[in-house]
Amino acid sequence: MSEPIVAPTIAAVRSAVRNARAGQGDRRIALVPTMGALHAGHLALVERARDIADVVVVSIFVNPLQFGQNEDLSSYPRSLERDVAALADVGADIVFTPTESEMYPNGPSATRITGGAAAGMLEGASRRGHFEGVLTVVAKLLHIVGPDVVVFGQKDAQQVFLVQRMVRDLDFPVRVEVVDTVRDEDGLALSSRNARFDPRQRSVARTVHTALEAAVSAADRGIDACVAAAQSALMGEPLIQLDYLAVVEPGTFQPVDDGFRGKVRILIAARVGDVRLIDNDLAHLG
Ligand code: PAJ
Repeated sequence: MSEPIVAPTIAAVRSAVRNARAGQGDRRIALVPTMGALHAGHLALVERARDIADVVVVSIFVNPLQFGQNEDLSSYPRSLERDVAALADVGADIVFTPTESEMYPNGPSATRITGGAAAGMLEGASRRGHFEGVLTVVAKLLHIVGPDVVVFGQKDAQQVFLVQRMVRDLDFPVRVEVVDTVRDEDGLALSSRNARFDPRQRSVARTVHTALEAAVSAADRGIDACVAAAQSALMGEPLIQLDYLAVVEPGTFQPVDDGFRGKVRILIAARVGDVRLIDNDLAHLG
């Protein structure tokens, strides 16, 4: 595979995309937004982008706007050279690697996209302002790159929901493509933060997925059985601190009422040591 073009500025990425579009025919551009420290989950997004578009742009930007004051912005893993090499292997064409001052030349953006009430629930309740930062940077990236399709991972289900709604609400001319969660052999969803686990914590972390599986298999017996199944898996593991366990309607992200039947998304957020994990799965409440 040929080396991707590495574009550190907005002008450079716009010009690279313009040149790529100028090739023969109507070339479809896909954007995969990331914060780097790439693993097989991110690369699955790039591979999907490769399958559905002609030109693949990957952005790598650790967006300060989406980190809270007590969060891990300064310790967030950064590995640009390794990331670019991995992206070359999976055939990305353009890698956009802006600095903070390139993205926010006037300091933190004064104009924000809030996402409304659904952005204040679940992840948004635990991480105030998180989704405002995510939606604002995703809107900027969409304006900068102008892709036909933008690719996200289902692992961050609430992020997917809010981006899809932003795209509809504000008429971004882009399609949102969603890729299933990529997992380790024991079921733990891949995450850049998994590198921070010691071996004991790593083995405990898989319980989040075990709990989800238990909830999915109990779902046909109703919501109480579903929640109880997840809780009993999580409570058996003292090193896990549950942040939330929620069952929502996929189309609205609102918690379901008692007696609800049909398709739901089950979401878990938990802490193991100082690492916060999130995971989710679909189930059918009977
Ligand atoms: P980041 O955490 O780097 O994730 C980038 C993309 O990779 C997201 O769409 C995320 O859902 C997806 N992803 C992460 N782990 C995955 C896994 N195990 N399987 C499948 N997909 C996975 O999400 C962000 O960055 C940021 O919020 C961003 C959208 C880039 C805005 O700053």
